[in-house]
Amino acid sequence: MSERAAVLTGLGGWLPPVRITNDDLARELDTTDEWITTRTGIRQRFVVPPGLSTSGVAVEAGRRALASAGTGSVDVLVLATSTPDHPCPATAPEVAARLGLGEIPAFDVAAVCTGFVYALATAAGLITARIAGSALVIGADTFSTILDPADRTTRAIFGDGAGAVVLRAGDRSEQGALLGFDLASDGSQSELITVPGGGSEHRSRGLAEPADSYFTMQGRSVFRNAVTRMSQSSRRLAERLDWPLTSVDRLVAHQANIRILSAVGSELGLREEQLVVNLDRVGNTVAASVPLALAEAAHSGAVAPGHRVLLCGFGGGLTWGAAALEFPRLTVAPPPGPVAPRAPATDRATA
Ligand code: UT7
Repeated sequence: MSERAAVLTGLGGWLPPVRITNDDLARELDTTDEWITTRTGIRQRFVVPPGLSTSGVAVEAGRRALASAGTGSVDVLVLATSTPDHPCPATAPEVAARLGLGEIPAFDVAAVCTGFVYALATAAGLITARIAGSALVIGADTFSTILDPADRTTRAIFGDGAGAVVLRAGDRSEQGALLGFDLASDGSQSELITVPGGGSEHRSRGLAEPADSYFTMQGRSVFRNAVTRMSQSSRRLAERLDWPLTSVDRLVAHQANIRILSAVGSELGLREEQLVVNLDRVGNTVAASVPLALAEAAHSGAVAPGHRVLLCGFGGGLTWGAAALEFPRLTVAPPPGPVAPRAPATDRATA
């Protein structure tokens, strides 16, 4: 029996041109390449040059996803970001205009590092509800613009970037159909990841310290939550789909820390080659993390047509979630950047 579904037809990622290695950070801050590599797995990250902001990186990734889908138009644009160009208005309408998409509905979704999974679910819902026939979903962030320059911990982890997908209406039986989602939040832990100032809460209390506009994170608690929540969500979705975890070919989880990815992997009983990893060369790119890792893996062949893929995110809010699909045949442009993405040692591609 046919069942309408949102189907992945285009994918692309983009990184800004300024590369910062761990040694570059060590020249500026009290840190070392050894600490960053062993505690996080990150070796380098890319950041925007002066004048480039989230709309700019979003446009580049959006353009690549549209080219990958072989289309110049979509019915709706959903942009996941927590570093919009301005607190108001949303950044998505400007991105839609710059991509020449016309007067389509365009809006932002703010769920920090889970943003892309939330935005994907939103766009898929618009398609299955017949409100839209196609969608461009972009995850883009420029956290380098909100980090405290003196904070060695956050500077070591975060990088800028964007990733995007194109969805079209199709059938659930098609390769590329989004088969299910698991979404959740826990606002009682909102203080673990926050930019305290700049919003209505501080303003209404008359508080305005310049440093309050910097991003803050309680690393250890976030770490523990990330492992538990991403494991929970992935397991719950796999169970709902009747996918034994051994049958999942690739888990594309939020790229925050290699130790988090390994812990999620062992929690779920996954082998190393089932985990997609690109954080060593891009860092934690927040809402861009999952689509960027997927785009790089699709280009390198680490994710191949026919693979059962789980996407999984965790971030501020707290928020977390997962999405599932059987990967389709796509043309994905090579990601920019000087280092080639890593393919796993063995590949279990079924097609
Ligand atoms: O994307 C949203 C989700 N975000 C995440 O998932 C991030 C999750 N958290 C983490 O990845 C880790 O908690 C961090 C990488 C942020 C920190 O690693 P950790 O092993 O949890 O270190 P810690 O915060 O417990 O700090 C241990 C020590 C501290 O020094 P003392 O107090 O023991 O003397 C830190 O000051 O490491 C120190 N430290 C550093 N040292 C050198 C923190 N950052 C650095 C650094 N270089 N860059």
